[in-house]
Amino acid sequence: MKRLAVFASGEGSNFEAIAGACAEGRIAAEVVLVVCDRPAARVVARAAAHGIETFAFDPKGYASKADYEREIVALLDSRQVDLVCLAGYMRLLSDVMLDSYEGRIINIHPSLLPAFKGAHAIEQALEYGVKIYGVTIHYVDRTMDGGRIISQQAFPYEGHDMAELEAMVHALEHELYINTINKLIAESRI
Ligand code: GRF
Repeated sequence: MKRLAVFASGEGSNFEAIAGACAEGRIAAEVVLVVCDRPAARVVARAAAHGIETFAFDPKGYASKADYEREIVALLDSRQVDLVCLAGYMRLLSDVMLDSYEGRIINIHPSLLPAFKGAHAIEQALEYGVKIYGVTIHYVDRTMDGGRIISQQAFPYEGHDMAELEAMVHALEHELYINTINKLIAESRI
């Protein structure tokens, strides 16, 4: 059984999809740790409902990013985490995390990267008038949404409004995250 950590800052619908798939045996892995930089975020309550250990911290309580990441790396090491899944974790990782876990950290992004990096990808795509939407899972490196792409899935724009697009993107994200983790396991890449 592979051991996963999920990092999130907000809603946690991707966490829910991954944890649910693990619990139902649709992923041959277990979520052993949730890391959240906003203790009041919904994902913290979701993790508690699954009985999953959570490290919820306030970055303001630390002198630097390196300080809290050292704590996170110690936790990941001691819980023997095989793969870190970023799922709406709104912080860039520093060398502390990457020196220890690069190649074992993946992220999901709601666009067809390299288009529309950053926090407002769906709005930007809508403003741009793109005709093909999609989601991407990629390895995490020292750039924002910039690491090598692992998987993507697309769908055509057919006049949807923002709420419809968000719902479609999220549904696709959940499916792609589960399939991608399964693929990495099947190919012995973790
Ligand atoms: C997702 O759209 C993900 O692609 C982006 O942040 C959002 C997180 O959603 N990085 P949720 O917290 O998993 O519901």
